[in-house]
Amino acid sequence: MSLKFDSITFQSQKFTSFALPLMPRLSSSKFCMASKAPCSGTKDEVENHKKRFMPRQKVHVEVKHTMPPQKIEIFKSLEEWAENNLLIHLKPVEKCWQPQDFLPDPTSSDEFDEQFKELRERTKEIPDDYFVVLVGDMITEEALPTYQSFLNSLDGVRDETCASLASWAIWTRAWTAEENRHGDLLNKYLYLSGRVDMRQIEKTIQYLIGSGMDFRTENNPYLGFIYTSFQERATFISHGNTAKLAKDHGDTKLAQICGTIASDEKRHETAYTRIVEKLFEIDPDGAILAFADMMRKKITMPAQFIYDGLDDNLFHHFSAVAQRLGVYTAKDYADILELLVEKWKVKELCGLSADGRKAQDYVCGLPPKIRRLEERAQERAKQAPSIPFSWIFDRKVKL
Ligand SMILES: [Fe+2]
Ligand SMILES: [Fe+2]
Repeated sequence: MSLKFDSITFQSQKFTSFALPLMPRLSSSKFCMASKAPCSGTKDEVENHKKRFMPRQKVHVEVKHTMPPQKIEIFKSLEEWAENNLLIHLKPVEKCWQPQDFLPDPTSSDEFDEQFKELRERTKEIPDDYFVVLVGDMITEEALPTYQSFLNSLDGVRDETCASLASWAIWTRAWTAEENRHGDLLNKYLYLSGRVDMRQIEKTIQYLIGSGMDFRTENNPYLGFIYTSFQERATFISHGNTAKLAKDHGDTKLAQICGTIASDEKRHETAYTRIVEKLFEIDPDGAILAFADMMRKKITMPAQFIYDGLDDNLFHHFSAVAQRLGVYTAKDYADILELLVEKWKVKELCGLSADGRKAQDYVCGLPPKIRRLEERAQERAKQAPSIPFSWIFDRKVKL
């Protein structure tokens, strides 16, 4: 998955949580090497050591297990439904593309040299701002361990044993395995291009996986699957747009790569939206309340805690470039919301509770409000400065 809509562009978020102090940069004299026993320093030193592995941004207070226990039964009863309706959206491994299908063949040095040279030639003229966005997309894909943890945090559908034969668990593992190819392929392609600072990128991946993500889905599969429906659509849009731009810049191979990844995301979107569609069918009140809840919180982007060791606002900077290039924009956010409202037939829901009707009105009235905010954000973007990105050797890119 990848996505980089900057929710703060629209409305400042009120964090009800504690504020983490900014972490000091790693300084060798104070840093406890992993090979040694835990620091036997003062309480302050131990706390500072811990902070190095925490996100630099505020994290919301955890709200846990908000789905009433009796609703876990809904997911148990949907086990057979999931087998028939969810697993069909997975592709058998033997029919899947693999990163190597798109990369120079290392087993033949002549062919490798030629294909490598062609790759460098194709990527030579691609502008820096495109690379900033592609790198951000790739890093977001590379944070896959967190997404699998996230799915396994959801009550009623988690993989209880890491080898569970429940359909929900099979889906989660196979989905993860499919996703794993996305970051892998983009990473290798970017590495071979020689256009980006791989060490800085690798550090950013390590930071991001180490930070975790603040999804706010409360172990609740209603919230979780609304989140993934939204995300998969967003990544489909984002990879689709990097494909178009790659073609415009003359790299048809990269266009093919991004397009191929986008089509995986589309298939995942279909699967996750089918789950929520089913929830709307059997529990419309619960589903609409969850939909409104996620939209009030805003869909927090997975790469929200992205950090390269230098730029405390890297997520906002990366999002701004993606917005400017039209790879993923506030308009897309509104479009996705409208699409989901339509797909889940939210306007036609009837027989809802009073709270359910309020949630329905809220969700249906939201897209025009987001669009108005988007226009204002675009005005602000016109005066944006250029800033250096470590991923491209500190060259400056306009936000
Ligand atoms: Fe992906
Ligand atoms: Fe996906």
